Amino acid sequence: MNLDPIPQVPTDDPFPLYDVLREEHPMLRVEERDLWVASRYTDVRAMLENPDVWSSAHGVVPSRFKPDKPTIIAMDAPRHTVLRKSVSRAFTPRRIDVLSKRIREIARELIDEFPASGEFDVFHAFTDPLPMYVMAALLGVGREERAMFKRCGDAIVYASDTPPDELHAAQSELTDYLAVVFEERRREPREDLISVLVSDSPEGKALDEEEMLGLCFLLLVAGTETTTSALGNGLLLLDRFRAERDWVAADPARVHAASEEVLRFDPPVHGLSRVASRDTEVHGVPVSEGEWVHMLFAAANRDPRTFENPERFDPARTRNHHVSFGWGVHFCLGANLARMELRIGLQELLARMPNYRVVTDGVERLRSDTNRGFARLPVEI
Ligand code: HEM
Repeated sequence: MNLDPIPQVPTDDPFPLYDVLREEHPMLRVEERDLWVASRYTDVRAMLENPDVWSSAHGVVPSRFKPDKPTIIAMDAPRHTVLRKSVSRAFTPRRIDVLSKRIREIARELIDEFPASGEFDVFHAFTDPLPMYVMAALLGVGREERAMFKRCGDAIVYASDTPPDELHAAQSELTDYLAVVFEERRREPREDLISVLVSDSPEGKALDEEEMLGLCFLLLVAGTETTTSALGNGLLLLDRFRAERDWVAADPARVHAASEEVLRFDPPVHGLSRVASRDTEVHGVPVSEGEWVHMLFAAANRDPRTFENPERFDPARTRNHHVSFGWGVHFCLGANLARMELRIGLQELLARMPNYRVVTDGVERLRSDTNRGFARLPVEI
């Protein structure tokens, strides 16, 4: 039996294999990929909490892809510490709170376009555009440029499905557009993320042009498709577990805990990798300097040593310290924003289509080594 979990990410149910790994092979060697896979919660947490030993600077995906622009997700201290501090200025809870009204408006505009009844693809109608439009609002992209932003953004986010010349054209178009926006915001700051980051403040220094571009591209890649997947996974789980859906729908406040449970039970990012920066060990297995270890978040989130009844989808779960946003110094900068989008999105969808049914045969998954996303999610209302 091939135990390599990476090809399982886009399948219907990768979890039985993850259980076998976590219980029987907590440190699995995948020779063909030249990497290890760690799947127990305490091992994954220990890796995330020791960035001195576990480097991100070589890239964080098992394909070993590394972005060409300097970007905080693929960086170690001291550069990561300085840049993350500067970038964090734009992600304060107050700034994200201000966006909540706008997120609900966008959600309602999209829902207004739904058909009155029948079957339609809720991926194209809602879960895909919502995070991209929120990203546009966060960056201060005007309404007139939103279509261009979505077109270029999609080409970059779904890069593996985009022909190389189209990808290149989208990257240049967006780079040119953003360079103009950076310049405008330097001259006339507004209430958006770019205005904060192009200027110095007591909390942090302005980012230079390359860092600004690196960040905007990272935000597109890290912050849109992941949130789209979380919304889709939420809809699928609340379809599969009807009693739980009724419980959540009875009180919109219950969407808070339910969203966290969606993130634990089937996370948008099933795993990310690190490289050992010195000889070390994981779960008692020696790992040499330079070796790659993939952390299987989705398996760790169902570790029975950490979570009570981990196989149960329990939207009322209270102690839910999953690793779906990572942990420690690289903990997801957009976690508060993603949580807000997921809550508002699910609240509005449950209000509009309380009796929806997912047309399971028509669901298409995104091809990816790490992210459990969608290409199609048909529902009947
Ligand atoms: C449900 C949606 C999301 C999930 C599951 C998710 C997951 C993650 C994970 C697992 C990491 C840690 C990477 C590592 O340790 O190597 C991360 C980092 C990051 N995320 Fe998210 N993310 C989501 C949404 C967002 C959004 C909406 C944004 C921005 C608006 C965002 C921006 C970032 C950034 C900038 C980092 C890098 C932080 C650093 O390296 O210091 N993410 N995310």
